[in-house]
Amino acid sequence: MTQVSDLIKVFFTGLGRSRMALVGAIMATVLFPALLISLVIDHQGLIAQPLFGFIVYLVLGPLFVLALLMVLLGLFFFQGKDEISRFTYQYLKEHFTAPEKFLWVRNLVVAATIITVINLLFIGVITYSGHRYTESIAFCGALCHTAMEPQHTSHQLSTHSQVLCVECHIGPGLGRLVKGKIFAAREVAVTLLNNYPRPIASPLEHLRPTSDNCRTCHRSELLYGEKLRIITSYRPDAQNTPLFTVLLMKTGHHGRRETEARNIHWHVDPERTVKYLHQDRERRKISEVRVKQEDGSELIFRRHHDQTTSAASENSPATVRTMECADCHNRASHSHLSAAEAIDRKILSGAIPEELPFSKRQTLAAISLPYASVTEAEIAIATRLESWYRENQPELTDREPDLLKRAVKGAQQAWRENVFPEMGVEWETYRNFLGHRNDSGCFRCHNPGMRTQEGYSPPTRCDLCHLILAVAEETPDIPEILKHGRH
Ligand code: HEC
Ligand code: HEC
Ligand code: HEC
Ligand code: HEC
Ligand code: HEC
Repeated sequence: MTQVSDLIKVFFTGLGRSRMALVGAIMATVLFPALLISLVIDHQGLIAQPLFGFIVYLVLGPLFVLALLMVLLGLFFFQGKDEISRFTYQYLKEHFTAPEKFLWVRNLVVAATIITVINLLFIGVITYSGHRYTESIAFCGALCHTAMEPQHTSHQLSTHSQVLCVECHIGPGLGRLVKGKIFAAREVAVTLLNNYPRPIASPLEHLRPTSDNCRTCHRSELLYGEKLRIITSYRPDAQNTPLFTVLLMKTGHHGRRETEARNIHWHVDPERTVKYLHQDRERRKISEVRVKQEDGSELIFRRHHDQTTSAASENSPATVRTMECADCHNRASHSHLSAAEAIDRKILSGAIPEELPFSKRQTLAAISLPYASVTEAEIAIATRLESWYRENQPELTDREPDLLKRAVKGAQQAWRENVFPEMGVEWETYRNFLGHRNDSGCFRCHNPGMRTQEGYSPPTRCDLCHLILAVAEETPDIPEILKHGRH
């Protein structure tokens, strides 16, 4: 017992001798109850503010650990010869010499041991909760509000809104965890310093390989049959006439077990490797594609040079990439639509009323103009729509004011969900490769300019990837089309 009490004596003497240790001890005493209460509040979900988590786990938590470190460092390395030490020493000496006080010291030893164990457990809980917090969508999306707003918004609106950001951007495993935390710390720093590119560029080289990631939930090699895709758009006329584009997408991949793997997911068959060279970071300019053949030889397609590509290749070295899910599904989770697509979706969902004459044409015109901020856009969209309808449809505006109000709200929403002027994100800043808008996407390779030495190109037949059942038709008779094989 005396040995332990000696230890205690040494401890308190040391504490008294070192200002650093004393400050640490005071900090730890104050922070302990504060953190404990915050932890309970957070685990009960009583405060949903992302800033709360930030303060608890990234400010108070590390401060607590720092306080304990200060105590340790102070005790062993930074002992001064201050007055306090003598007082503490005398005080302790009294306690040790007076037998009736000895009990108190013994209790203190037990208490100190318990406190240490609690501290260690406590640090464990904080570390775990802090880790959980930094993995949350709130931390990634909402805390860096302006910087991540475009991606956070698109993620919230996507089929993947329940998939954690880190699931795609970092992934499991200790190595990725450490790399991810270092990356996140850097991100927080550049956000605080307001020093990041606008718009944020593709993080492709840091992204968890999508073939591993997407395959944890989707087995593209086990998709069978075709996928019927119906795209609804509206004509810019008084009735906002709905038009239907109907495609039968050949997503089905017949896999090794049946015949040779074919169709759209051919490129990512686990037994095949398609590599390509791209000249730019966005992967819009592809100059070469290599497909490994079964006999080990390579089939090489090269873009037959026009002036622009050869100039680009001299300036920037080409990067080699192995084709994976994100080379077509590059906007999985972050689909930023074109203005027309955004309005079509709002009419389809009923947010913009189809029954309001010219709602497609007028809302599209209102959201297509450039605006410098959210406030400016909201005011301008509302003013433009209200003045046009007052002038051209005065009776309807008086009779059913609600229709116009809904159209204004829907148009503002369509703009807000896709355009982020503070982040340099305009309509279609982020291109979708899943298709061939403006000859991009699939046509980067499926293009007669991309040829082997023998002059063979990846096919461009319209029925290679989809059967076209209707293109912007009012009343496509699909069963009829299928019956007569009109495709
Ligand atoms: C289902 C997977 C997935 C999820 C979940 C996901 N992302 Fe992404 N993210 C991607 C892919 C794929 C890219 C684009 C890579 C590329 O350039 O092709 C991307 C790109 C980005 C970019 C770069 C800018 C851009 O738009 O290209 C940012 C920033 C980003 N994501 C942030 C987030 C945040 C914040 C969350 C959570 C709120 C999130 N991501 C959730 C897959 C995902
Ligand atoms: C944690 C599981 C999970 C991960 C990881 C994941 N997905 Fe999904 N994905 C889903 C779920 C759930 C749905 C919704 C299914 C539905 O409602 O039809 C979905 C839907 C889809 C769809 C069809 C609907 C749409 O939005 O077009 C595609 C395509 C898709 N995912 C591609 C991907 C790609 C590419 C990746 C990798 C970047 C990925 N997914 C990663 C779970 C996941
Ligand atoms: C990086 C280049 C590249 C891109 C991008 C690309 N492909 Fe391909 N694709 C190829 C090559 C190369 C072939 C094989 C040509 C051959 O050997 O006949 C091919 C073959 C195909 C095939 C035929 C597979 C079979 O059954 O033999 C389909 C279908 C296809 N691609 C669909 C698509 C679709 C859809 C997209 C866009 C979403 C796309 N491809 C984007 C390079 C590409
Ligand atoms: C060559 C381009 C390309 C690549 C690479 C690619 N996909 Fe797709 N995928 C498509 C296209 C095109 C569609 C059909 C989209 C549509 O019209 O809805 C599709 C559809 C899907 C769907 C929805 C299928 C359905 O029937 O509902 C899933 C899930 C999917 N892909 C997962 C993946 C995964 C996982 C990977 C990577 C292992 C991958 N894809 C790689 C082009 C591609
Ligand atoms: C290499 C594959 C491929 C080839 C070849 C191809 N398409 Fe497509 N097409 C796609 C994909 C992928 C989409 C996107 C479907 C989606 O939005 O999910 C698409 C979409 C479309 C759409 C709908 C666009 C929209 O958003 O309304 C039309 C129309 C279309 N294709 C016509 C054609 C025609 C005509 C040809 C022949 C000149 C052709 N396609 C050749 C892959 C292909």
